[in-house]
Amino acid sequence: MKIINVTGARPNMMKVAPLMKEMRRHKEITSILLHTGQHYDEKMSKVFFSDLSMPEPDIYLGVGSGSHAGQTAKVMVEFEKVLLSEKPDVVVVVGDVNSTMACSLTAVKLHIPVAHVEAGLRSFDRTMPEEINRIVTDSVSDYLFTTSEDANLNLKKEGIPAEKIFFVGNVMIDTLLRHMEKAEGSDVVQRLGLKEREYSVLTLHRPSNVDGKENFEGILDALRHIQKRIKIIFPVHPRTFKMIKEHAFSDTIKEMMNLIIVDPMGYLDFLKLMSNACFVLTDSGGIQEETTILKIPCLTLRENTERPVTVTEGTNIIVGNDRDKIVKEAENILDNGGKAGRVPKLWDGRAAERIVEIIKKNIGRR
Ligand code: UD1
Repeated sequence: MKIINVTGARPNMMKVAPLMKEMRRHKEITSILLHTGQHYDEKMSKVFFSDLSMPEPDIYLGVGSGSHAGQTAKVMVEFEKVLLSEKPDVVVVVGDVNSTMACSLTAVKLHIPVAHVEAGLRSFDRTMPEEINRIVTDSVSDYLFTTSEDANLNLKKEGIPAEKIFFVGNVMIDTLLRHMEKAEGSDVVQRLGLKEREYSVLTLHRPSNVDGKENFEGILDALRHIQKRIKIIFPVHPRTFKMIKEHAFSDTIKEMMNLIIVDPMGYLDFLKLMSNACFVLTDSGGIQEETTILKIPCLTLRENTERPVTVTEGTNIIVGNDRDKIVKEAENILDNGGKAGRVPKLWDGRAAERIVEIIKKNIGRR
Protein backbone atom coordinates (compact mmCIF):
# COMPACT_ATOMS: atom_id res chain seq x y z
CA MET A 1 0.00 0.00 0.00
CA LYS A 2 1.46 3.33 -1.05
CA ILE A 3 0.55 6.42 0.97
CA ILE A 4 1.55 10.02 0.25
CA ASN A 5 1.57 12.20 3.38
CA VAL A 6 1.35 15.92 2.68
CA THR A 7 2.99 18.65 4.74
CA GLY A 8 3.26 22.28 3.72
CA ALA A 9 3.20 24.79 6.54
CA ARG A 10 4.51 24.92 10.08
CA PRO A 11 1.41 23.58 11.86
CA ASN A 12 1.36 20.54 9.56
CA MET A 13 4.73 19.24 10.71
CA MET A 14 3.70 18.14 14.20
CA LYS A 15 0.63 16.41 12.77
CA VAL A 16 2.45 14.49 10.04
CA ALA A 17 5.39 13.39 12.25
CA PRO A 18 3.50 10.76 14.30
CA LEU A 19 1.72 9.47 11.19
CA MET A 20 4.98 8.91 9.33
CA LYS A 21 6.51 7.24 12.36
CA GLU A 22 3.54 4.91 12.77
CA MET A 23 3.33 4.07 9.05
CA ARG A 24 6.98 3.12 8.97
CA ARG A 25 6.31 0.44 11.61
CA HIS A 26 4.05 -1.38 9.13
CA LYS A 27 5.94 -3.41 6.54
CA GLU A 28 3.04 -3.46 4.09
CA ILE A 29 2.96 0.36 3.88
CA THR A 30 5.23 2.45 1.67
CA SER A 31 4.92 5.93 3.14
CA ILE A 32 6.07 8.91 1.14
CA LEU A 33 6.56 12.33 2.74
CA LEU A 34 5.76 15.21 0.42
CA HIS A 35 6.48 18.85 1.37
CA THR A 36 4.77 21.47 -0.78
CA GLY A 37 7.18 24.22 0.31
CA GLN A 38 4.38 26.59 1.41
CA HIS A 39 6.64 27.37 4.37
CA TYR A 40 10.30 27.20 3.46
CA ASP A 41 12.41 29.14 6.00
CA GLU A 42 14.81 27.42 8.36
CA LYS A 43 12.71 28.70 11.26
CA MET A 44 9.26 27.97 9.78
CA SER A 45 10.04 24.56 8.35
CA LYS A 46 13.51 22.99 8.53
CA VAL A 47 13.95 23.14 12.31
CA PHE A 48 10.83 20.98 12.77
CA PHE A 49 12.34 18.10 10.83
CA SER A 50 15.22 17.84 13.25
CA ASP A 51 13.20 18.64 16.39
CA LEU A 52 10.59 16.01 15.53
CA SER A 53 13.09 13.48 14.12
CA MET A 54 11.17 13.47 10.85
CA PRO A 55 12.69 11.94 7.73
CA GLU A 56 13.67 14.41 5.02
CA PRO A 57 10.82 14.88 2.53
CA ASP A 58 10.93 12.35 -0.31
CA ILE A 59 9.35 14.91 -2.61
CA TYR A 60 9.64 18.70 -2.34
CA LEU A 61 7.41 20.89 -4.52
CA GLY A 62 9.03 24.21 -3.61
CA VAL A 63 5.95 26.35 -4.26
CA GLY A 64 6.82 29.15 -1.80
CA SER A 65 4.65 32.16 -0.97
CA GLY A 66 2.04 33.84 -3.13
CA SER A 67 -1.57 34.94 -3.21
CA HIS A 68 -4.09 32.35 -2.08
CA ALA A 69 -5.04 31.52 -5.66
CA GLY A 70 -1.43 31.54 -6.82
CA GLN A 71 -0.19 29.33 -4.00
CA THR A 72 -3.11 26.90 -4.26
CA ALA A 73 -2.79 26.64 -8.03
CA LYS A 74 0.97 26.06 -7.92
CA VAL A 75 0.54 23.24 -5.41
CA MET A 76 -2.17 21.64 -7.56
CA VAL A 77 -0.14 21.75 -10.78
CA GLU A 78 2.94 20.25 -9.13
CA PHE A 79 1.06 17.71 -7.04
CA GLU A 80 -0.84 16.40 -10.05
CA LYS A 81 2.45 15.44 -11.72
CA VAL A 82 3.50 13.57 -8.58
CA LEU A 83 0.21 11.69 -8.34
CA LEU A 84 0.37 10.65 -11.98
CA SER A 85 3.82 9.19 -11.58
CA GLU A 86 3.54 7.77 -8.03
CA LYS A 87 -0.05 6.45 -8.25
CA PRO A 88 -0.58 6.21 -4.47
CA ASP A 89 -3.44 4.22 -2.93
CA VAL A 90 -4.35 7.10 -0.64
CA VAL A 91 -3.29 10.70 0.06
CA VAL A 92 -3.20 11.85 3.68
CA VAL A 93 -3.64 15.58 4.32
CA VAL A 94 -3.67 17.29 7.73
CA GLY A 95 -5.05 20.52 9.15
CA ASP A 96 -6.41 23.48 7.21
CA VAL A 97 -3.69 25.30 5.29
CA ASN A 98 -3.71 26.07 1.57
CA SER A 99 -1.59 22.98 0.84
CA THR A 100 -4.19 20.77 2.57
CA MET A 101 -6.99 21.95 0.31
CA ALA A 102 -4.88 22.04 -2.86
CA CYS A 103 -3.64 18.46 -2.47
CA SER A 104 -7.02 17.01 -1.53
CA LEU A 105 -8.67 18.60 -4.57
CA THR A 106 -5.95 17.36 -6.89
CA ALA A 107 -6.16 13.81 -5.56
CA VAL A 108 -9.93 13.48 -5.65
CA LYS A 109 -10.03 14.60 -9.28
CA LEU A 110 -7.70 11.74 -10.13
CA HIS A 111 -9.99 9.37 -8.17
CA ILE A 112 -7.37 8.83 -5.49
CA PRO A 113 -8.91 8.47 -2.00
CA VAL A 114 -8.17 11.29 0.44
CA ALA A 115 -7.83 10.96 4.21
CA HIS A 116 -8.20 14.22 6.14
CA VAL A 117 -6.67 14.27 9.59
CA GLU A 118 -8.27 16.89 11.86
CA ALA A 119 -11.53 16.94 9.94
CA GLY A 120 -14.77 18.63 10.98
CA LEU A 121 -13.42 21.66 12.82
CA ARG A 122 -15.52 24.75 12.11
CA SER A 123 -15.17 28.35 13.28
CA PHE A 124 -18.28 29.25 11.23
CA ASP A 125 -16.33 32.31 10.09
CA ARG A 126 -15.95 32.21 6.33
CA THR A 127 -13.66 35.24 6.28
CA MET A 128 -10.91 32.93 7.58
CA PRO A 129 -8.99 31.28 4.73
CA GLU A 130 -8.58 28.21 6.92
CA GLU A 131 -12.36 27.80 7.26
CA ILE A 132 -12.73 27.60 3.47
CA ASN A 133 -9.86 25.11 3.33
CA ARG A 134 -11.54 22.97 6.00
CA ILE A 135 -14.95 22.94 4.30
CA VAL A 136 -13.56 22.13 0.85
CA THR A 137 -11.18 19.45 2.11
CA ASP A 138 -13.84 17.70 4.19
CA SER A 139 -16.33 17.73 1.35
CA VAL A 140 -14.00 15.79 -0.98
CA SER A 141 -12.38 13.46 1.57
CA ASP A 142 -13.15 9.75 1.86
CA TYR A 143 -11.82 9.26 5.39
CA LEU A 144 -12.50 12.02 7.90
CA PHE A 145 -10.45 11.62 11.07
CA THR A 146 -11.75 13.82 13.88
CA THR A 147 -10.36 15.08 17.17
CA SER A 148 -13.59 15.81 19.04
CA GLU A 149 -17.32 15.08 19.25
CA ASP A 150 -18.21 18.58 18.03
CA ALA A 151 -16.30 17.88 14.81
CA ASN A 152 -18.30 14.66 14.29
CA LEU A 153 -21.49 16.63 14.70
CA ASN A 154 -20.41 19.37 12.27
CA LEU A 155 -19.69 16.78 9.59
CA LYS A 156 -22.99 14.99 10.11
CA LYS A 157 -24.84 18.30 9.82
CA GLU A 158 -23.09 18.89 6.50
CA GLY A 159 -24.43 15.58 5.24
CA ILE A 160 -21.22 13.54 5.41
CA PRO A 161 -22.19 9.86 5.81
CA ALA A 162 -21.39 8.47 9.26
CA GLU A 163 -19.29 5.64 7.78
CA LYS A 164 -16.73 8.13 6.52
CA ILE A 165 -16.22 9.73 9.97
CA PHE A 166 -13.71 8.27 12.43
CA PHE A 167 -13.25 9.82 15.87
CA VAL A 168 -9.61 8.99 16.60
CA GLY A 169 -8.19 11.73 18.86
CA ASN A 170 -5.54 14.32 18.21
CA VAL A 171 -2.25 13.66 16.40
CA MET A 172 -0.89 17.02 17.56
CA ILE A 173 -1.18 15.73 21.11
CA ASP A 174 0.60 12.49 20.10
CA THR A 175 3.54 14.70 19.19
CA LEU A 176 3.33 16.82 22.32
CA LEU A 177 3.27 13.84 24.68
CA ARG A 178 6.08 12.12 22.80
CA HIS A 179 8.34 15.20 22.98
CA MET A 180 7.69 16.49 26.51
CA GLU A 181 10.73 14.80 27.98
CA LYS A 182 13.04 15.99 25.21
CA ALA A 183 11.63 19.53 25.49
CA GLU A 184 12.46 19.52 29.21
CA GLY A 185 16.12 19.56 28.13
CA SER A 186 15.73 22.86 26.25
CA ASP A 187 17.53 25.78 27.88
CA VAL A 188 15.21 28.40 26.32
CA VAL A 189 13.93 29.66 29.69
CA GLN A 190 17.44 30.38 31.03
CA ARG A 191 18.65 31.61 27.64
CA LEU A 192 15.99 34.33 27.67
CA GLY A 193 16.73 35.14 31.33
CA LEU A 194 13.26 34.04 32.48
CA LYS A 195 11.91 32.38 35.59
CA GLU A 196 9.22 29.70 35.65
CA ARG A 197 5.66 31.17 35.72
CA GLU A 198 7.02 34.73 35.72
CA TYR A 199 6.38 35.40 32.05
CA SER A 200 3.68 34.99 29.43
CA VAL A 201 3.96 33.96 25.77
CA LEU A 202 2.35 35.63 22.77
CA THR A 203 1.86 34.42 19.19
CA LEU A 204 0.03 36.42 16.57
CA HIS A 205 -0.31 35.92 12.83
CA ARG A 206 -3.97 35.71 11.74
CA PRO A 207 -4.70 38.11 8.87
CA SER A 208 -7.71 39.38 10.90
CA ASN A 209 -5.40 40.49 13.72
CA VAL A 210 -2.27 41.71 11.97
CA ASP A 211 -3.19 42.79 8.44
CA GLY A 212 -5.64 45.51 9.53
CA LYS A 213 -3.98 48.37 11.40
CA GLU A 214 -6.86 49.05 13.79
CA ASN A 215 -7.20 45.53 15.16
CA PHE A 216 -3.44 45.16 15.57
CA GLU A 217 -3.37 48.51 17.42
CA GLY A 218 -6.10 47.34 19.82
CA ILE A 219 -4.05 44.25 20.68
CA LEU A 220 -0.87 46.32 21.16
CA ASP A 221 -2.80 48.59 23.48
CA ALA A 222 -3.81 45.61 25.61
CA LEU A 223 -0.21 44.35 25.62
CA ARG A 224 0.98 47.75 26.85
CA HIS A 225 -1.07 47.21 30.00
CA ILE A 226 -0.26 43.55 30.51
CA GLN A 227 3.51 44.02 30.15
CA LYS A 228 3.46 46.39 33.12
CA ARG A 229 2.74 43.36 35.29
CA ILE A 230 4.43 40.47 33.48
CA LYS A 231 7.01 39.89 30.75
CA ILE A 232 5.58 38.86 27.38
CA ILE A 233 7.75 36.73 25.11
CA PHE A 234 6.71 37.22 21.49
CA PRO A 235 8.20 34.91 18.80
CA VAL A 236 7.27 36.83 15.67
CA HIS A 237 5.80 35.03 12.64
CA PRO A 238 7.12 36.30 9.24
CA ARG A 239 3.66 37.61 8.25
CA THR A 240 3.48 39.61 11.50
CA PHE A 241 7.05 40.86 11.10
CA LYS A 242 6.14 42.23 7.69
CA MET A 243 2.98 43.89 9.00
CA ILE A 244 4.79 45.50 11.96
CA LYS A 245 7.02 47.25 9.44
CA GLU A 246 4.14 48.14 7.13
CA HIS A 247 2.03 49.64 9.94
CA ALA A 248 5.14 51.42 11.33
CA PHE A 249 4.63 49.81 14.77
CA SER A 250 8.34 49.18 15.49
CA ASP A 251 8.72 52.20 17.79
CA THR A 252 5.49 51.47 19.68
CA ILE A 253 6.78 47.96 20.32
CA LYS A 254 10.24 49.13 21.36
CA GLU A 255 8.70 51.39 23.99
CA MET A 256 7.22 48.36 25.78
CA MET A 257 10.17 47.24 27.85
CA ASN A 258 8.61 43.94 28.88
CA LEU A 259 7.40 42.90 25.45
CA ILE A 260 10.31 40.81 24.28
CA ILE A 261 10.54 40.11 20.56
CA VAL A 262 12.29 36.92 19.47
CA ASP A 263 12.55 34.88 16.24
CA PRO A 264 10.07 32.05 15.55
CA MET A 265 11.16 29.06 17.64
CA GLY A 266 11.66 25.39 16.99
CA TYR A 267 9.20 22.87 18.42
CA LEU A 268 11.15 21.78 21.49
CA ASP A 269 12.06 25.31 22.61
CA PHE A 270 8.51 26.52 22.13
CA LEU A 271 7.04 23.57 24.01
CA LYS A 272 9.36 24.25 26.93
CA LEU A 273 8.57 27.97 26.81
CA MET A 274 4.81 27.33 26.91
CA SER A 275 4.95 24.70 29.61
CA ASN A 276 6.79 27.03 32.01
CA ALA A 277 4.69 30.12 31.26
CA CYS A 278 2.13 31.77 33.52
CA PHE A 279 -0.26 32.03 30.57
CA VAL A 280 -0.33 32.18 26.77
CA LEU A 281 -1.93 34.74 24.45
CA THR A 282 -2.47 33.45 20.93
CA ASP A 283 -4.49 33.45 17.72
CA SER A 284 -3.12 30.05 16.66
CA GLY A 285 -5.33 26.96 16.43
CA GLY A 286 -2.88 24.35 17.63
CA ILE A 287 -1.68 26.34 20.63
CA GLN A 288 -5.21 26.36 22.06
CA GLU A 289 -4.99 22.55 22.12
CA GLU A 290 -1.43 22.32 23.40
CA THR A 291 -2.08 24.66 26.35
CA THR A 292 -5.11 22.55 27.30
CA ILE A 293 -2.90 19.48 27.63
CA LEU A 294 -0.12 21.44 29.40
CA LYS A 295 -2.75 22.93 31.78
CA ILE A 296 -1.51 26.45 31.02
CA PRO A 297 -4.22 29.15 30.80
CA CYS A 298 -4.74 30.36 27.24
CA LEU A 299 -6.35 33.60 26.05
CA THR A 300 -7.35 33.32 22.41
CA LEU A 301 -7.19 36.62 20.53
CA ARG A 302 -10.00 35.75 18.14
CA GLU A 303 -13.76 36.18 18.03
CA ASN A 304 -14.35 32.45 17.62
CA THR A 305 -12.65 29.11 17.69
CA GLU A 306 -12.96 25.98 15.57
CA ARG A 307 -11.75 24.10 18.67
CA PRO A 308 -14.58 24.66 21.21
CA VAL A 309 -13.55 21.66 23.28
CA THR A 310 -10.53 23.68 24.48
CA VAL A 311 -13.02 26.18 25.97
CA THR A 312 -15.62 23.77 27.36
CA GLU A 313 -13.08 21.28 28.72
CA GLY A 314 -9.67 22.91 28.50
CA THR A 315 -7.88 26.05 29.67
CA ASN A 316 -8.93 28.32 26.83
CA ILE A 317 -10.88 31.61 27.01
CA ILE A 318 -11.91 33.49 23.85
CA VAL A 319 -11.13 37.20 24.25
CA GLY A 320 -11.21 38.52 20.67
CA ASN A 321 -9.21 41.65 20.02
CA ASP A 322 -11.12 43.82 22.44
CA ARG A 323 -8.54 45.66 24.55
CA ASP A 324 -10.55 45.72 27.79
CA LYS A 325 -11.52 42.06 27.64
CA ILE A 326 -7.92 40.96 26.97
CA VAL A 327 -6.57 43.02 29.89
CA LYS A 328 -9.36 41.92 32.25
CA GLU A 329 -8.82 38.20 31.60
CA ALA A 330 -5.02 38.51 31.81
CA GLU A 331 -5.33 40.30 35.16
CA ASN A 332 -7.74 37.70 36.37
CA ILE A 333 -5.16 35.00 35.65
CA LEU A 334 -2.42 37.02 37.35
CA ASP A 335 -4.58 37.60 40.44
CA ASN A 336 -6.52 34.36 40.73
CA GLY A 337 -4.86 31.78 38.44
CA GLY A 338 -6.55 30.50 35.29
CA LYS A 339 -8.80 27.61 34.34
CA ALA A 340 -7.43 24.17 35.18
CA GLY A 341 -9.42 22.18 32.62
CA ARG A 342 -9.32 18.47 31.85
CA VAL A 343 -7.98 16.33 29.03
CA PRO A 344 -10.49 15.91 26.16
CA LYS A 345 -11.53 12.39 25.18
CA LEU A 346 -8.95 10.38 23.18
CA TRP A 347 -6.22 13.05 23.41
CA ASP A 348 -4.04 10.28 24.74
CA GLY A 349 -1.07 10.04 22.39
CA ARG A 350 -2.47 7.17 20.31
CA ALA A 351 -4.34 8.93 17.50
CA ALA A 352 -1.78 8.07 14.78
CA GLU A 353 -1.99 4.40 15.73
CA ARG A 354 -5.78 4.44 15.33
CA ILE A 355 -5.59 6.28 12.00
CA VAL A 356 -3.09 3.88 10.44
CA GLU A 357 -5.13 0.87 11.60
CA ILE A 358 -8.27 2.29 9.97
CA ILE A 359 -6.47 3.15 6.72
CA LYS A 360 -4.96 -0.33 6.54
CA LYS A 361 -8.27 -2.04 7.15
CA ASN A 362 -10.28 0.07 4.71
CA ILE A 363 -7.88 0.63 1.83
CA GLY A 364 -6.87 -3.02 1.93
CA ARG A 365 -10.49 -3.95 1.27
CA ARG A 366 -11.00 -1.66 -1.74
C1 UD1 B 1 -0.28 29.71 7.12
C2 UD1 B 1 -1.65 29.05 7.15
C3 UD1 B 1 -2.22 29.15 8.56
C4 UD1 B 1 -1.25 28.66 9.62
C5 UD1 B 1 0.06 29.39 9.46
C6 UD1 B 1 1.08 28.95 10.46
C7 UD1 B 1 -3.00 29.17 5.07
C8 UD1 B 1 -4.12 29.86 4.44
N1 UD1 B 1 -2.58 29.69 6.25
O1 UD1 B 1 -0.50 31.09 7.31
O2 UD1 B 1 -3.41 28.40 8.62
O3 UD1 B 1 -1.78 28.89 10.89
O4 UD1 B 1 0.55 29.18 8.13
O5 UD1 B 1 2.30 29.54 10.31
O6 UD1 B 1 -2.51 28.20 4.55
N2 UD1 B 1 6.72 33.46 4.92
C9 UD1 B 1 8.08 33.50 5.14
N3 UD1 B 1 8.73 32.32 5.34
C10 UD1 B 1 8.08 31.13 5.34
C11 UD1 B 1 6.70 31.12 5.12
C12 UD1 B 1 6.03 32.29 4.91
O7 UD1 B 1 8.69 34.54 5.16
O8 UD1 B 1 8.74 30.09 5.53
C13 UD1 B 1 5.98 34.71 4.69
C14 UD1 B 1 5.37 34.72 3.30
O9 UD1 B 1 6.15 35.43 2.42
C15 UD1 B 1 4.02 35.35 3.48
C16 UD1 B 1 3.73 35.25 4.96
O10 UD1 B 1 4.91 34.78 5.60
O11 UD1 B 1 4.02 36.68 3.11
C17 UD1 B 1 2.57 34.36 5.21
O12 UD1 B 1 2.79 33.01 4.76
P1 UD1 B 1 1.60 32.06 4.24
O13 UD1 B 1 2.06 30.66 4.13
O14 UD1 B 1 0.99 32.69 3.09
O15 UD1 B 1 0.49 32.11 5.34
P2 UD1 B 1 0.61 32.17 6.91
O16 UD1 B 1 0.13 33.47 7.37
O17 UD1 B 1 1.94 31.68 7.40
